[in-house]
Amino acid sequence: MNSGLKIATIGGGSSYTPELIEGFIKYYPELPVSEIWLVDVEEGKEKLEIVGNLAKRMVEKAGIPIKIHLTLDRREALENADFVTTQFRVGMLEARSKDEFIPLKHGVLGQETNGPGGLFKALRTIPVILDIGKEMKELCPDAWLINFTNPAGMVTEAVLRYSPIKKVVGLCNVPIGMEMGVAKLLNVDHKRVRIQFAGLNHLVYGLDVFVDGVSVKERVISILTNPEKTITMQNIHAMGWEPDFLRALNLLPCPYHHYYFKHGEMLEKELMDFQEGKTRATVVRELEAELFKLYKNPELAIKPPQLEQRGGAYYSDAAVRLIHSMYTDKRDIQAVNTMNSGAILSLPYDAAVEVSCVITKDGPIPMVVGELPIQVSGLVSQVKSFERVAIEAAVTGDRRKALLAMTINPFVPSDRMAKVLLDEMLEVHKPYLPQFQ
Ligand code: G6P
Repeated sequence: MNSGLKIATIGGGSSYTPELIEGFIKYYPELPVSEIWLVDVEEGKEKLEIVGNLAKRMVEKAGIPIKIHLTLDRREALENADFVTTQFRVGMLEARSKDEFIPLKHGVLGQETNGPGGLFKALRTIPVILDIGKEMKELCPDAWLINFTNPAGMVTEAVLRYSPIKKVVGLCNVPIGMEMGVAKLLNVDHKRVRIQFAGLNHLVYGLDVFVDGVSVKERVISILTNPEKTITMQNIHAMGWEPDFLRALNLLPCPYHHYYFKHGEMLEKELMDFQEGKTRATVVRELEAELFKLYKNPELAIKPPQLEQRGGAYYSDAAVRLIHSMYTDKRDIQAVNTMNSGAILSLPYDAAVEVSCVITKDGPIPMVVGELPIQVSGLVSQVKSFERVAIEAAVTGDRRKALLAMTINPFVPSDRMAKVLLDEMLEVHKPYLPQFQ
């Protein structure tokens, strides 16, 4: 009889895995995980072995009895799992590269989660997550699916609406990253900071900001009017906000808002990099090569600091904190992607939203937001329309729906351009889009 928790991690060969393992090690005294199954596909086998062996060394060094299993058999990993975490990338970095390069070639931001790149990542990922949902229904019907796979909002909503399992939570490091960022700006311990979040994944706003329960939003906004002070993540080139805009917005934007409110500047910057043959995917590829070289070293038994150059900082804290609160029915507040259920009035009831929730053993309970402030509700609704049409395209393989999604994406300037991008991207991603064949 198994006494501890079984975790199955799909996409276990990801360079982020040491991040997750570090979290499980840190929380072990309160979260008795007995086995972690790292599962990947055949193409990811080499990475799985390298990172999996590092994971084994990490738990051994920590002196903790978590057994790490490496497998290419997803069913074996899922069987009787308590929590399933997903961090896979269909088509690996090569696909991301195309998602970023093709739009830029046509003068459009690709952006792998919010832009045309995000649309294609959703089209490739959603059929796979729905397959995982079917297998979970059969092999671990009581397990929770904790999805980190991007575009996390769309992937989570696809499970909520189209999968036989309903126990799913989408998780992103942007909310925790923003709280850490505020803590740094105010020079206080991050545990004292809480942001009231509402919006969508990678389009989330801080409606209010508290330190020890007292609102400090005005102070934080005032600090952020200094262009030297920013809250961002490694993958987003931060530029200071126009002070009067920020004051009038009167909300805390997330780093991904740069793509909307500084669209021109972001495009210009990415086009300059593109001229030199560079996108974020090329940077990540180099970083990954360096990371896997380090991971191979049999002497290494900790998460190397170089991993912090990836955009996913604090994932381990966010993920393990969430699992811990669900397991212990802690009822603390964390921002996750979950079913709206009426929390944000202007969005559909069954839409995935990223919102502060009370975390219970029965899942997250979203805190009521009501109407979003008028200055942001339009954009949020527009992006949710894009997401919903994209999800429907992914599920049905309907080309017209995919064209509609591409055209209503805020980064795409016209229906003609949408068609150009769609045709070219459908062609290059063909092997990963069986539903469109
Ligand atoms: C941020 C986002 C993640 C995303 C990551 C990309 O952290 O919140 O959702 O996966 O950046 O980072 P990368 O290093 O892959 O560009």
